[in-house]
Amino acid sequence: MSVFFVAVMSANGKISRSHLSPIDWSSKEDLEWFKEITTQSKVIVMGRRTFELLNSPLPNRLNVVMTHDLPKKNNNVLFTDASPVALVKELKRMGYDKIPIIGGQRVFTSFLREEAVDEMYITYEPILIDGIGMFDEMKRDVKMEVINVKKLSGGAFVIHYVLKR
Ligand SMILES: NC(=O)c1ccc[n+]([C@@H]2O[C@H](COP(=O)([O-])OP(=O)(O)OC[C@H]3O[C@@H](n4cnc5c(N)ncnc54)[C@H](OP(=O)(O)O)[C@@H]3O)[C@@H](O)[C@H]2O)c1
Repeated sequence: MSVFFVAVMSANGKISRSHLSPIDWSSKEDLEWFKEITTQSKVIVMGRRTFELLNSPLPNRLNVVMTHDLPKKNNNVLFTDASPVALVKELKRMGYDKIPIIGGQRVFTSFLREEAVDEMYITYEPILIDGIGMFDEMKRDVKMEVINVKKLSGGAFVIHYVLKR
């Protein structure tokens, strides 16, 4: 069982130009990598704002959208107001054992704060942008171990970390 962040970052640690901006600066190689790792898991978890930035739900994966505004219905999407810990428990009960959390900042922060995440895959793109970081606040330091570093053909690096408890 593993819960992991999948994020793409500029070389100066930004995940987006603003809370409402789409990611128009990452590489096609990163998109391919993202598709591969999330399709294998058959599920993705994201925040309502990130979902609204997609044109449509991502195919071949259960799209789980965290929101406090539940009445929305959509056949391919599971909307939930469960806490990160409760959501992980429910997805595990549904048979998912690898759970990618794909953002954005609010959702990454919620999972980190509840210690509901085990690993991170961060792609570092060779670009500098102005914008927002991965977490809006850090309550404490989190130590990690680097498990693997992979260079994508376009020049970006994917670093796989495990969080230490
Ligand atoms: N670089 C990357 O890898 C990456 C990945 C994804 C997104 N992004 C970027 O991140 C930005 C969006 O991030 P964001 O922080 O503004 O929004 P977000 O995390 O995508 O969505 C925030 C919304 O999710 C819901 N939510 C979050 N935590 C919740 C919880 N614990 N329980 C219930 N609902 C919860 C709330 O929805 P309600 O308001 O409906 O209650 C909240 O307003 C965009 O710019 C996007 O491009 C970057």
